[in-house]
Amino acid sequence: MQRLLVVEDDNSVRMTIVTALECEGFDVDAVGSTREAISRLEGSQYPIVISDIYLDERTGLDVLNAARKGNPKCQVILMTGRGTMETVMAATRGGAFDYLAKPFDMDQMFDVIRRAQATFEGEEEKEDVVEDLPTSEMIGSSAPMIEIYKNLSLSAPTDATVLIEGETGTGKELIARMIHNNSRRSEKPFVAVDCGAIAPTLLESELFGVVKGAFTGADRDRVGVFESANTGTVFLDEIGETDLSFQLTLLRFLQQREIRPVGASRSKVIDVRVVLATNRDMQKMVDEKKFREDLWYRINVIRIQLPPLRERHGDVPLLAHTFLNRYNDRYNMSGRLTESGMKTLETYAWPGNVRQLQHMMERMTILAPQGRIDEAAVREAIVAMEPRDNGSDSLADTEADQIRRVLAATNGNKSHAAKILGIERKTLYRKLERMGLA
Ligand SMILES: Nc1ncnc2c1ncn2[C@@H]1O[C@H](COP(=O)(O)OP(=O)(O)OP(=O)(O)O)[C@@H](O)[C@H]1O
Ligand SMILES: [Mg+2]
Repeated sequence: MQRLLVVEDDNSVRMTIVTALECEGFDVDAVGSTREAISRLEGSQYPIVISDIYLDERTGLDVLNAARKGNPKCQVILMTGRGTMETVMAATRGGAFDYLAKPFDMDQMFDVIRRAQATFEGEEEKEDVVEDLPTSEMIGSSAPMIEIYKNLSLSAPTDATVLIEGETGTGKELIARMIHNNSRRSEKPFVAVDCGAIAPTLLESELFGVVKGAFTGADRDRVGVFESANTGTVFLDEIGETDLSFQLTLLRFLQQREIRPVGASRSKVIDVRVVLATNRDMQKMVDEKKFREDLWYRINVIRIQLPPLRERHGDVPLLAHTFLNRYNDRYNMSGRLTESGMKTLETYAWPGNVRQLQHMMERMTILAPQGRIDEAAVREAIVAMEPRDNGSDSLADTEADQIRRVLAATNGNKSHAAKILGIERKTLYRKLERMGLA
């Protein structure tokens, strides 16, 4: 029989709860003040405590702290009819298991208690441990990554143009920065340009600059990226998204190392190293005449091909633990990976590569019940974070609880919270409204 402590100052509410719990076979102790509650908690241990928040001169948060101090595994369920964002956040930070908004029906309460009980199961599962986590920025010691480091250590110190290829989220930008940081230009500017995000007609003036009056809208002289990054490195991301006319301009620049701002009559010599990246199949683009062959030969000198994460599963444990540590620190959490959790991570296909793993670890560090990232937690996160076409709803039935935890961890930052939860911001607002917390 499970023991339970109920703390509620309203006699009739307390009686109702106690009667319902006793009918379900619980062994219930009930008190009506924080003073009695705290002295009970000092005298004996309860696995589960259900407490009202607004009681007397002290509150349910004091009961929560006393319960967790006496027994860190104690699950405290708080209830109130006057919840605000602030009290909910304080309760969540204090480690409350869940939060019941009054009035609630008894089935809701039983449901929360069952979930609290479930956390006591499976506690014996072993934790996955990794000794000597690397402190480097780039994580990975699989064979293909070692090849990449070799390649990098030779090419980074030179001024050679480097092309980085790889699926989304494999670390192309990270590699580009490492090339810069390990070159003699490391103290000089590094400027990244997402060629796919700039309208083709504007890309040339963005990179090479423009003089006032060159076209409508060019209301003043503008310095281009190549000039502002002079003596440093320019990273041209998504180079496969550019059009043929820009490709010709870029080819000329790579051959002559001179820029002529749009509308200018004279050119200037510029000293920048160019690193490029793409997630396209460039050879195919060349064959289909969507990418200039002459430019392709010019940039295809040193190629770094980043393997997708599914081809280097051996790197998953290092990456997962690195991200786990990062988010435990950032959010002041104590998430830990179990062996089954790690196994599930290792066998997943990772369509979004390292970035997806990183986001998933962020989410699970905050949301995994009792910070235990096991198989169930990983499966839940995979389902929740898989791209959906309707973009509306992916949260499980414990969604209110998840929303509270994520908001507490992100200090109430709703856009960041929505991202971690895998829902749109407006969906989060709607849900908060329904929870009475808008
Ligand atoms: N090997 C790695 N070690 C540690 N962190 C990594 C590694 N690879 C990628 N990351 C992290 O994953 C995230 C995505 O990496 P990055 O932005 O470099 O990917 P990308 O290949 O440029 O993706 P996209 O094509 O979508 O732009 C970043 O936060 C990056 O720091
Ligand atoms: Mg990128």
